[in-house]
Amino acid sequence: MILTPRHSLRRRLLGWLLISTAIIGTLALFDTWAEAVKTANAVSDRVLAGSALAIAERVVVAEDGSLEVDIPYVALEMLTSAAQDRVFYRVDGPPGNFITGYQSLPGIAFKPGQATAFEDAVFRGEPIRVAALQRSASTGISSVPFVVTVAETTVARRQLTRAILLRSALRLAMMIAGAAVIVWIAVTISLRPLSRLGAAIAERNPDDLQPIREDVPREVEGLVERFNSFMVRLGTAIEALRHFTGNASHQLRTPLAVIRTQLALVGRAATLEEAREAARKGDEAVARAERVLAQFLTLARLNAASREMTMPAALDLLRLSQEITADHVPAAAAAGIDLGFEGEEAAWVTGEALLLGELVKNLVENAIAYAGRGAEVTVRVAASSEGVRLEVEDNGPGIPLEKRAEVMQRFVRGERERAFGTGLGLPIVEEIAGLYDAVVTLEDGVGGRGLKVCVVFPAVTTEGDS
Ligand SMILES: Nc1ncnc2c1ncn2[C@@H]1O[C@H](COP(=O)(O)OP(=O)(O)O)[C@@H](O)[C@H]1O
Ligand SMILES: [Mg+2]
Repeated sequence: MILTPRHSLRRRLLGWLLISTAIIGTLALFDTWAEAVKTANAVSDRVLAGSALAIAERVVVAEDGSLEVDIPYVALEMLTSAAQDRVFYRVDGPPGNFITGYQSLPGIAFKPGQATAFEDAVFRGEPIRVAALQRSASTGISSVPFVVTVAETTVARRQLTRAILLRSALRLAMMIAGAAVIVWIAVTISLRPLSRLGAAIAERNPDDLQPIREDVPREVEGLVERFNSFMVRLGTAIEALRHFTGNASHQLRTPLAVIRTQLALVGRAATLEEAREAARKGDEAVARAERVLAQFLTLARLNAASREMTMPAALDLLRLSQEITADHVPAAAAAGIDLGFEGEEAAWVTGEALLLGELVKNLVENAIAYAGRGAEVTVRVAASSEGVRLEVEDNGPGIPLEKRAEVMQRFVRGERERAFGTGLGLPIVEEIAGLYDAVVTLEDGVGGRGLKVCVVFPAVTTEGDS
């Protein structure tokens, strides 16, 4: 349950929040700034136009018909509230006739019908804002047109907009920082149930497989549910393993007890004959113990094989079954059983020789063990277009219909079974068959007597050599 910084939820949330706030905030900042500049300009423009108007009102027509101006200094003082800024003006009479003020101050070209006009310009290397007013002075007989132009440097304006921008940016930064703190706290609080969950799991006993009952947020409920169902499966698996280990040690203890008894008998034997007999029985028990261990190993190998299944090569089941049958002829003869083999053509199946050999061996050994003296056992392998069919048939007592499903389970044996066994033979057969998609069925033998175990393998398309 360790979250590396790369996967930190808190960092991710915080990152998303900060990026989106920064983008939205910057847009808002630009908008505020543009609005502020517009408002500041509108206000100063009105003051500029006001002073132009104040000057225009002092323009009079002299007796000789020329224009005269008596500049009211208050009109210019209105403007110089910002001490850093300088103010310029000029008054022009009928076209081209400069009257007073700064002659080099740039004028403004009026649009038709326009009485007041504004413009940004540069004067003496400084940016200025210019306002111009068109009027005419009346003599009573005729009217003389004139233009008043007032300009002001823009230091104060620029300072004002800069101050507004700075203050807005500051406010935005504070907002982002505040949001980050809130998210940090909110995420910490929201994640608390997760750390409680982690602590609850960490505090558990390793063998405590009880479901988690912690109160968790809805988003984590699915995870907890899956964890709980995993615990149930784990519990089942551990229970099965415990069951298996218990049974397995019991299976090994039986032959070991026999060996110990026989060794004691050897020690106490009065004659060489007696000692030999005890040694022979002890040796038999060792062989049984070996067989049990081999079956356990087969099961272990089966577990590994089903997990790391590599595609095995094709193998001739006919030849393999024939060899195993031949190997068991002496044991069959000793048990008074007529063991035979039927089949001619090669029967290709995919499978591992060791495991398939184990499958055939288990079936042949069962038939020899349970068919009874005088019985006939036939191993049959036949290939057809549907697949390969392996049959081990006997005419012994068989297995009653209602017990057939049961004997396929691990450690289940027939009642009062005299022959030595573990109850693992048929389950191993089924597991190996399952590994190669083969199907195992238990059927009646010839004439409804005995048992016929059939294993049907799927057909192999490409033939290999073994
Ligand atoms: N050919 C057979 N004839 C009659 N009973 C059989 C035959 N094969 C198996 N069984 C019964 O099925 C049981 C389970 O077989 P198996 O799984 O091989 O275990 P084990 O042979 O160790 O008892 C046997 O105990 C026996 O009762
Ligand atoms: Mg068996």
